[in-house]
Amino acid sequence: MPKQKKLLTENIDNTNSSSVKDYVKSGGFSGLKKAITLSSEDVIAEIKKAKLLGRGGAAYPAGNKWEHLLHIPGTIKYIVCNADEGEPGTFKDRLILEKLPFELLEGIIIAGFVFKAKAGYIYVRGEYRKIQKQLLAEIEKLKSAGYLGKNILGKGFDFDIHIISGAGAYVCGENSALLNSTEGKVGRPRIKPPHLAEVGLFLKPTLVNNVESFANIPFIVNMGGDEYLKAGHPDSGGTKLICLSGHSKNRGVFEIPLGKVTLRDAIYAPELGGGIAKKKKLKFFHLGGQSGSIGCADQLDTVYSYTDLRKAGLSVGSGAIVVMDESVSIIEYLIGVTDFFIHESCGKCVPCREGNRQLRVILHKLSKPGAATKHDLHTLRRLIHTMNDASFCGLGQTAAAALNSAWKHFKEEFEANVKGANNESS
Ligand SMILES: Cc1cc2nc3c(=O)[nH]c(=O)nc-3n(C[C@H](O)[C@H](O)[C@H](O)COP(=O)(O)O)c2cc1C
Ligand code: SF4
Repeated sequence: MPKQKKLLTENIDNTNSSSVKDYVKSGGFSGLKKAITLSSEDVIAEIKKAKLLGRGGAAYPAGNKWEHLLHIPGTIKYIVCNADEGEPGTFKDRLILEKLPFELLEGIIIAGFVFKAKAGYIYVRGEYRKIQKQLLAEIEKLKSAGYLGKNILGKGFDFDIHIISGAGAYVCGENSALLNSTEGKVGRPRIKPPHLAEVGLFLKPTLVNNVESFANIPFIVNMGGDEYLKAGHPDSGGTKLICLSGHSKNRGVFEIPLGKVTLRDAIYAPELGGGIAKKKKLKFFHLGGQSGSIGCADQLDTVYSYTDLRKAGLSVGSGAIVVMDESVSIIEYLIGVTDFFIHESCGKCVPCREGNRQLRVILHKLSKPGAATKHDLHTLRRLIHTMNDASFCGLGQTAAAALNSAWKHFKEEFEANVKGANNESS
């Protein structure tokens, strides 16, 4: 069975990505043309059948999110696309934004139709400056071609899409912080509830989905939810864009069918990762970004699906797969992860702001022979749980996920430099 499945990326090499004509020639906008003949309920029914799980990291069922928003009263609703892509090791939204922009824009326009939304916003990572300019040009092309702007496809529906630039803060990828930032406020998370479907952008009901989630919508509408489901796993249809990096021989974005390949395939198959560079051995892999969990060689036969990875204590997250070879110290790697979270913590709440700093102090001790005590290991465990339970937003709640999972696989490395350590410390 082929290890790659090209659904979103089928035409990536044979069409001019910025030509509306080429996009239409390759079947583009047939999802939108079909969607405008259906009721909002029918479009959402297909997304529910497709079992599309949000591709931004949290894996929330898109159909349920859309259905919830549909039932929220209000004549002004907004569509927001999360293109912040701040998760280290993640660069798959960039591929869509650069090479498949009309798939994304078509998905957002379909959402606009479904909710009769007032406007759409794409919040684009600040570092993607060139992409922001390209998107603005592509939006203008769609307006000229009648797919965006006034009276779309003669259906009397007006809808525009605006581009908002992030400014380099990871926390602004969190959906409520993203809305604050879009409104021109400080990009800090909001308290929930109320949910964004009720009180979102400019306090109006709002849909927030990831780039890859929106890009899947035209395919779901076109193929029908049942067909789309078949392309993936029975619990989560379709494909997933994975990002291989680190010591993987082949690095880049690959599209794989959910539930039909294993982690071993992803890392070793010649058409995917191709194995470990420089003929070294795999030590561990870090899935889903810095906020995801770390796995080791014993878990390579786990099927790459939301369900199977969750059962193995791992997660799809953003789709990142950072591969690390035998030369890497797990403690040094985790110091890097913690430095990232210290830098990105917005400082609003104590468990995250101070917890990450304390993790770093202990990890530094663990990296030096005899500097740490068994008490430090207990404190480390306590901090992991406190941060997870008491942090205000997902950043602090997941900041120690890598550490927590690494502890399970590499306990001896944690204990190697600890004075008088033995296995009681768990
Ligand atoms: C700290 C933090 C950063 C996040 N960064 C991103 C991001 O860069 N892109 C993204 O799509 N989702 C990100 N998310 C998840 C969003 O909050 C939200 O779940 C997502 O945009 C919803 O879209 P989806 O359901 O289509 O995945 C982040 C969450 C947290 C807690
Ligand atoms: S967990 Fe708290 S400090 Fe950390 S980013 Fe979220 S709100 Fe800010």
